[in-house]
Parts: sequence; C-alpha cells; structure tokens
Amino acid sequence: MKIAMLGSGFIARFYADSLIGQRRIDTLHAVYSRNVEKAKQFASDYKLPLYSDNMDEVVNHPEIDLVVISLPNDLHLAAVEACAKAGKHVLCTKPLGRTAAEAKQMLDMVEQTGVMGGYLEDLCYTPKFSKSLASVKGGSLGRILWAKSREAHPGPHSNWFWNKEQSGGGAIVDLGCHCIEITRNYIGKDIRPVSVMCWAATQVHPIDAEDNAIGMIKYANGAMAQFEVSWCFRGGMDLRDEVMGTEGTIWINNFLRTGFDMFTTGQGDGYVAEKAESKTGWLFPVGDEVNELGYNHMFTDMFEAIEQQRSPFETFYDGYIVNAIIDAAYASAKSGQWEDVQIEDWRGATGDDNAERFRSFDEEYYLIKEEILPHGDRKLILKNKNTGEVIVKDL
Ligand SMILES: NC(=O)c1ccc[n+]([C@@H]2O[C@H](COP(=O)([O-])OP(=O)(O)OC[C@H]3O[C@@H](n4cnc5c(N)ncnc54)[C@H](O)[C@@H]3O)[C@@H](O)[C@H]2O)c1
Repeated sequence: MKIAMLGSGFIARFYADSLIGQRRIDTLHAVYSRNVEKAKQFASDYKLPLYSDNMDEVVNHPEIDLVVISLPNDLHLAAVEACAKAGKHVLCTKPLGRTAAEAKQMLDMVEQTGVMGGYLEDLCYTPKFSKSLASVKGGSLGRILWAKSREAHPGPHSNWFWNKEQSGGGAIVDLGCHCIEITRNYIGKDIRPVSVMCWAATQVHPIDAEDNAIGMIKYANGAMAQFEVSWCFRGGMDLRDEVMGTEGTIWINNFLRTGFDMFTTGQGDGYVAEKAESKTGWLFPVGDEVNELGYNHMFTDMFEAIEQQRSPFETFYDGYIVNAIIDAAYASAKSGQWEDVQIEDWRGATGDDNAERFRSFDEEYYLIKEEILPHGDRKLILKNKNTGEVIVKDL
C-alpha cells in the first residue's frame, strides 16, 4: 500500500520515522501540509515522491491507498470525511474527535463507506503494554478490580493545543484519551463504562481549559479505572500504569526510570527523549522511542488488518468510546457529580458480570485470606457463608 501523511508536524515525523525505519511493504508516498515549504521539506527528509498544500489532491491521488491523519484535533473530522469520500482507508491519531458527537460522525462515515478506520492509540501497542495485556487476558491477575494510568508532562509543544476550541479541551482530551484506553483494555473492552467522576482544574497556565485532572471511571462489572493527567508536571514525561486483580498486580513505568540512566555534565548535544526538560545531570533516555511508544507495532497491526480484512486492535469505535468517556469526565468536572457515559451504539456485553465474587474455602466457608506470620505460623481467615461469622483457623 502507498500511504499519504496529512500534516508535517510533531506526530507526523514520529509516524514517518516508524514507517520508513522498518523494511515494510507499505511505504510512505505523499505528504500534505498547509505550508508548501514544510510539505517540501518533509518530502525531502523522508524521500517521498509527492507533496502538496492541497489536502484533497493528496487524499484523492490515484496512487494513494491509505491516509494517516496527523493534524490538530479540530481538523480530524474534515480529514476523515475527505478520506471516506475518496474511499481510502484512514488511520487517525488520538483523540479521534474533540467530542463523542464528532467521533461518532467519523465512525459512521468509515462504516458507511466500508473503508477501515484505525485509531492510532500507540500506547495500547507498546511492548510492555502488549505483554501485560496478554498476562491479564491469560488470567495471571485474576479478576481485574482497578486499573490506573497516568500521563503527565510540562505541556504540549504547539499553540493549537492551548486553544480550547481547536483542541476540544486541555489535559483530559489530550492525555486522558491515552489513559482511558489503556485502562479500558485492562478491564476489558467488552465491559461497558458506566459513569465518571472527575476533578479538573487550571492550576498553572493562563488557559481556558484544564491543565490538571484526576478521574474515576466505573465499569458495569464493578471494576474501577483511574486516570491522572497533567500539563504542569516538571521533569519530563511521566507515563505509568498500574493494574490490580484478585490474583496479581502489574506496575509499568513507560518512560522515566525505564532502566536506562545517564549522567552528563552538559557536554555534547544529544537528544534525550520526548518532553525531556534537561540535557545535563542525571537523565533518563529512551532507547528506541518509536518502538517503546508502540508506533511500530501499531502500524503493523493496522496494515495487517487491512490485508486480512479484519478489525485492527484499536478502531474508530474504540476512539468513539474514549470520546464518550471524556465527555462524561468534562460533565462531571463541571457538575461535581458522577455523570453517565452516553453511548449511542454499545456493542459490548450487556448487564453485570455475574462471576462469583467471593472465593470459597469449602461448602461452609469463604476464604478471606491466608497469612504466613513472621515466625512461620500459617493461619486462614474464613467467613461462614450462612452466619457471617469470621473465624481464624491455624494450620
Ligand atoms: N502519541 C500520540 O499519539 C500523539 C502525540 C502527539 C500528538 N498527537 C496528535 O497528533 C495531532 C497533531 O499533533 P502534533 O503534535 O503533530 O501537532 P503539531 O502542531 O506539531 O503539527 C500539526 C500539523 O498540522 C498542521 N496544521 C496546523 N493547523 C492547520 C490548519 N489550520 N490547516 C492545516 N494544517 C494545519 C501544522 O502545520 C502541522 O503540520 C493531534 O491530534 C494530536 O493530539 C498524537
């Protein structure tokens, strides 16, 4: 397949680094940028035969099979519309829309046209995430009770992010979209997100949107997700996830303190990592960012999905659900109440998860816990299923 890139900024270059950094049968072929000089520069840097400052020309070019949208949030809808009209498969960066209503329009457009709509949520493709999710799906953590994801950095790199109209909000829509989809995967995409409680504030920057927020998302099976986002965090990019289940726990540090620490007095001029704030002292470089951040695995899944005529792991429908949760988070931040997640088209499981919640010890008792004491004694704490009495049984 021949790929066209819409946009030539920050994420377009990350995506291009991934697309040309691997020996792929699918090749980056064209770029659109509203500034023709930037399009020309991008095409020259990545050795692309076509560039233009006319989006329709690039999308409709007969050699182009697939379009990657790397434009500001307010331009995703028009770009998806152009791709759907042209009958081209489309991969859109996060967040899919500024609102669920926008995301739903994009979902409908690709589904009605029959092109593939891939949601470029790279953090759901990182090697650490994929292995963790496989462990969760394999049952290593038992029933998932709680999943938390945190993304925090000192704030984005372009003016449009700071304009609420163009971006759709602040740190919640920009960073929360990652955290929401990460935790939703751990809890299970089939489980309906029910309601959201969110605190959001503008603590540091002179903007209309929030630069800090914490949210909780209740799922239909009783599991809880939590997101923490900030545009005020100092010290780089903090990407951490935690999952807690009845049988285990996962902690992931994705970016800072990944096991690669470096000290420099400040000699030289090396690039450290995205959003790194310093080039001196103790630094936390990231070995291969496009790989560690999941871009390689993400594009491979997208291309294979098209070839195999299956859905990719992250679809426009997932992007829509994420936007619906974000809408509820903004409503809750405003009302101070739990707010329902409004989903027009729920495609997952319905009703509560009826799994047995308590672990039986035998016919008569539930097992609350087993404890090994410092001097080596073992005891069981049991609860009588009929009387409710809690007893200790020494082993
Ligand atoms: N990890 C990720 O998945 C990730 C990371 C960063 C950004 N993003 C997303 O990528 C998208 C672009 O963000 P970015 O960081 O590359 O921003 P950016 O500002 O670096 O680049 C945006 C590009 O869009 C172009 N552009 C801006 N306004 C335009 C307009 N009115 N008409 C046409 N072109 C216009 C700019 O010239 C530039 O080429 C956003 O949706 C953002 O949320 C995703």
